[in-house]
Amino acid sequence: MEDLTPPRDSLDPIEIASRDEITALQTDRLKWSVRHAYDNVPFYRQAFDAACLHPDDIRTLQDLAKVPFTTKQDLRDNYPFGMFAVPRTQIARIHASSGTTGKPTVVGYTARDIDTWASVVARSMRASGTRQGDVVHVSYGYGLFTGGLGAHYGAEKLGCTVIPVSGGMTPRQVSLIEDFGASTIMVTPSYALSILDEYRAQGLDPRRSPLKVGIFGAEPWTNAMRAEIEQAFDMHAVDIYGLSEVIGPGVANECVETKDGLHIWEDHFYPEIIDPDTGAVLPEGELGELVFTSLTKEAFPILRYRTRDLTRLLPGTARSMRRMEKVTGRSDDMIILRGVNVFPTQIEEQLMAVEGLAPHFQLELTREGRMDDMTVHVEPLPGVTDAAQLVHLTAELKRRIKDYVGLSVAVKLHETGQVARSQGKAVRILDLR
Ligand code: DLL
Repeated sequence: MEDLTPPRDSLDPIEIASRDEITALQTDRLKWSVRHAYDNVPFYRQAFDAACLHPDDIRTLQDLAKVPFTTKQDLRDNYPFGMFAVPRTQIARIHASSGTTGKPTVVGYTARDIDTWASVVARSMRASGTRQGDVVHVSYGYGLFTGGLGAHYGAEKLGCTVIPVSGGMTPRQVSLIEDFGASTIMVTPSYALSILDEYRAQGLDPRRSPLKVGIFGAEPWTNAMRAEIEQAFDMHAVDIYGLSEVIGPGVANECVETKDGLHIWEDHFYPEIIDPDTGAVLPEGELGELVFTSLTKEAFPILRYRTRDLTRLLPGTARSMRRMEKVTGRSDDMIILRGVNVFPTQIEEQLMAVEGLAPHFQLELTREGRMDDMTVHVEPLPGVTDAAQLVHLTAELKRRIKDYVGLSVAVKLHETGQVARSQGKAVRILDLR
């Protein structure tokens, strides 16, 4: 793969500023953001008053720990526009995340917020190895989901030629990549696998595609999956993280030269890791729940938002800003099966280690009496049809899950194409309990 490290002089100066400079900027911005939220959002004013806290009490980054958390429920309680800090007429855009239960979570942006967002996505893309002038194929969904439009504005800001394809119509995805010569693709990792299958179904060699960089996010994926995709397409696969409540994609991104976790764009989003049970702030390096405070957002300031994503904070490497480890999963997606905690990514890791199995999977949870069971639905790679080998593949995956995850599960092998394919965020868990 080509070395796509961006030239140092193309970076935003703050990306490689000293920690002291970053802290000074964050402190100033934090004070502004707290004051802005308190003055303009009744929810924050009430939360501060109830905690006997005043914006003047927040003078350092450490003082942030005094501020109460904000949860998804708080956003729901203020549906649709109650968390906005500017009059509705200054809102340039609304996004919303669907949410499986109840009302969607609504977020808003001023024109300046949209510009900030485009800048952090452009920075993320540059970190991924994309350059001005590149052709960028966007397969994230366009609409209320932040993926499509977030990627789109960032790519324009970087000076790329944007192909706004959105998700779906997989055969056409392949022909557009080929015909328009896309060198970057922005897509969920699970949908990238569907596009990969389609390349092969059309008899095309994905390694000869024009793609050089894939910017994958919106769902958890493992380093084993990275290796698979990089090998299959002969391109760099880089991780992008974000959530609509904080801004959308572009909160953090890996650097193509290191691929060692995601640098958090700390000049706009202040991260903390907390113990999800006690709410205590944990020291750098410890695993816990990621919490974000926006430092520059106008329309939708957010203070200490509990993401439910589990990760740890690490010092900067390719940039001075801190990194977060690849997200293992959300606390909501943790399966507790017969007392063992397991994330879908742990199953993905084992699946990727069994040669001959396709990288698609779903986990079905059932209950008989008081016993919970898990069935892992998988399929062999196309062309793997030998009966003895199929038996071996099933047994091998079961053994690995038992040995490495500590769970006895059933494995059901389907015919090629029978395991549900993703067109956006993959649905990994079918809970029938
Ligand atoms: O998924 C924003 C996004 C779009 C990020 C495109 C990256 C690329 P939401 O729909 O609000 O926003 O979902 C946010 O998705 O809290 C994580 O649980 C998960 N997530 C997002 N990126 C990653 C990632 C978008 N790189 C939720 N790795 C977050 C693991 C991710 N999980």
